Amino acid sequence: MQAMPLPIPAISKETLIERVPVSFETERLLIRRTCDEDAGPIHQTILESWDALHDEMIWAAEESRKDFARTAEFIRETQEKSLEGEGFTFQFYHRRESCHVGAMGLHHIEWDVPKFEIGYWLNANHWGRGYMTEAVSALSRLLIAEAGAARVEIRCSSANRRSAAVAQRAGFHHEATLANDRRHHLTHELHDTHVYVLLPSS
Ligand SMILES: CC(C)(COP(=O)(O)OP(=O)(O)OC[C@H]1O[C@@H](n2cnc3c(N)ncnc32)[C@H](O)[C@@H]1OP(=O)(O)O)[C@@H](O)C(=O)NCCC(=O)NCCS
Repeated sequence: MQAMPLPIPAISKETLIERVPVSFETERLLIRRTCDEDAGPIHQTILESWDALHDEMIWAAEESRKDFARTAEFIRETQEKSLEGEGFTFQFYHRRESCHVGAMGLHHIEWDVPKFEIGYWLNANHWGRGYMTEAVSALSRLLIAEAGAARVEIRCSSANRRSAAVAQRAGFHHEATLANDRRHHLTHELHDTHVYVLLPSS
């Protein structure tokens, strides 16, 4: 007798897009999709954290990212992408102190899996307090519970010790290291990429 193929869950991309969280709270943070009101706080954070972001984030390679107009343009772009399900960004604020703490993004989404890659950065004034671990842990688990994620990834340069430590503290499993996978955008040194993954069974 021929084996019956297992049914594939037929949840449409449109339905899954609606299940990506719009806003949520953790113990210390309010995390929400990027909106027009975030322009001022993001701009301020970029100025305060410029050296750290410029060193690690390709998007901060250009000096023009210090311009308020460029941040306003980023907000328009991210809002358009989220409508199409091409990517989402989130800003987070300290619930008690109300200050902007950092941001996360969902990239390289494949809805038919579904799978997501999380990227992140913090205001340098807020490093070393566990905020990113708190935010990444919450978002990745919501993606699995609400948006049916079969896989959530974090990719980072082997030279970015702090980023790898976030993935490990958030419970992601080190799945692979891709040798000579990237060049640093400023030094042009060749680096490996660490791939960390969180699965529903994790
Ligand atoms: C990557 C980045 C977000 C990590 O920031 P971070 O502050 O090290 O990470 P967390 O917010 O999770 O904080 C962890 C630190 O707080 C400490 N900590 C304090 N309270 C904590 C708590 N309640 N829970 C967890 N950690 C806590 C941890 O021990 C750790 O300290 P350590 O670095 O001395 O070991 C930050 O370095 C950054 O924005 N870098 C530039 C952008 C970047 O590289 N992005 C990633 C690209 S792949």
